[in-house]
Amino acid sequence: MSQPISLNDPIEICGLKIKNRLCKSAMSEQLGGRNGEATKALETLYKTWAQGGFGLQITGNVMIDARHCGEPRNVIVENRNHIEALTRWAAAAQENQTYCWVQLNHPGKQAPKHVDKQPISPSAVPLGQGMDKIFNVPRVMTEDDIADVIQRFTNATLICQEAGFSGIQIHGAHGYLISQFLSSHHNRRTDRWGGSLENRMRFVIEVYRAMRAAVGKTFPIGIKLNSADFQRGGFTEQESMTVVQTLESEGIDLIEISGGNYEAPAMMRPKKRSTIEREAYFLEYAETLRSHVQVPLVVTGGFRTAKAMSNALASGALDMVGIARPVSVFPNLANQLLTNPATNGSYAYPSTGIKFIDKIAVMDINWHEHQLKLLSSGQPPNPSLSPWWIAWRSIRGILKSGSQKRRA
Ligand SMILES: Cc1cc2nc3c(=O)[nH]c(=O)nc-3n(C[C@H](O)[C@H](O)[C@H](O)COP(=O)(O)O)c2cc1C
Repeated sequence: MSQPISLNDPIEICGLKIKNRLCKSAMSEQLGGRNGEATKALETLYKTWAQGGFGLQITGNVMIDARHCGEPRNVIVENRNHIEALTRWAAAAQENQTYCWVQLNHPGKQAPKHVDKQPISPSAVPLGQGMDKIFNVPRVMTEDDIADVIQRFTNATLICQEAGFSGIQIHGAHGYLISQFLSSHHNRRTDRWGGSLENRMRFVIEVYRAMRAAVGKTFPIGIKLNSADFQRGGFTEQESMTVVQTLESEGIDLIEISGGNYEAPAMMRPKKRSTIEREAYFLEYAETLRSHVQVPLVVTGGFRTAKAMSNALASGALDMVGIARPVSVFPNLANQLLTNPATNGSYAYPSTGIKFIDKIAVMDINWHEHQLKLLSSGQPPNPSLSPWWIAWRSIRGILKSGSQKRRA
């Protein structure tokens, strides 16, 4: 019988020999320059994680269209104007035999008013849950818009490849544009881009095919995909499995599993307490998926201890473990996980204890984002950072700008 896979085992993906099974998942940094260029702060941050031991790291979501950003200070790749800065970022992020892939994203309607006055989406369905105060109703995309976005994904892929990144991850999860196309709640189109699952997934397939045709078979392309939207009428587990099978048959190199969107943020905090306690939020889905596909799988969301990660890998349900929030406070976590089986990357969940305040302060995001800022300026993170301080800063920001941001 073959040995179960362990965290230290290398894995080969599309010709890349990745040194271990730990993947730093995407966390939007909001550390881009005024013109969407990569910055010294990003170099410092990603160098820290590269030295921290990850085999693979995925950047925070990088925008493909300056007119449609998801957040202020996103990195934007729509032309070669800032290729030198991008090249420096790629080099810093790939020290210590780490590979870094860029996560490319179009936010669609999940772009707040103060960033995008006129967002686009497959259909003019506003975001619910009171988010209409923060996000404008999207304009329905035309055929030309669709062709333009596909072209932009392709163009950005070529520029990132030229800059020296070793792969691309398409952001197909968390309610952004690709995820909006996949969901029958958000996509009400009656043309070839909507209706049946075959039509709803046409967009992601066309994006992937165009990118693949541009870079060839030897440059890795992966995708982050929802296991489900956890929303009535949204993308279901069954549909997700069909999309994974289709992408596998198209030749995709890696699938990262997550779930949820702004309206139902399951990727950050699942509803069931038992799911949180079990650590890996989407493991059950991955177990079922594994029996249908061979494509390498990363599962992200909730992993904290070496024990849970090792068990999940040993089960064969996944090929790599995705970790995001813990490495904002423990940047050396991967090295520790690889050398000490008793490692536990848990820390106090940032909360004021008042749900309403945490919600308007977008606590989970803003608290972790502040840790990224500290790391990016060469300072140590602060796991005991007061959630009340984050709440005060966020609420002051809302009062000043009349709006608040977003997401994951
Ligand atoms: C500050 C912050 C920013 C995030 N930005 C992104 C992003 O740009 N793209 C993405 O796919 N996920 C993003 N996420 C979600 C994470 O990748 C991950 O799916 C989620 O945090 C659950 O994993 P964890 O329990 O290991 O943190 C973000 C999460 C945080 C906390």
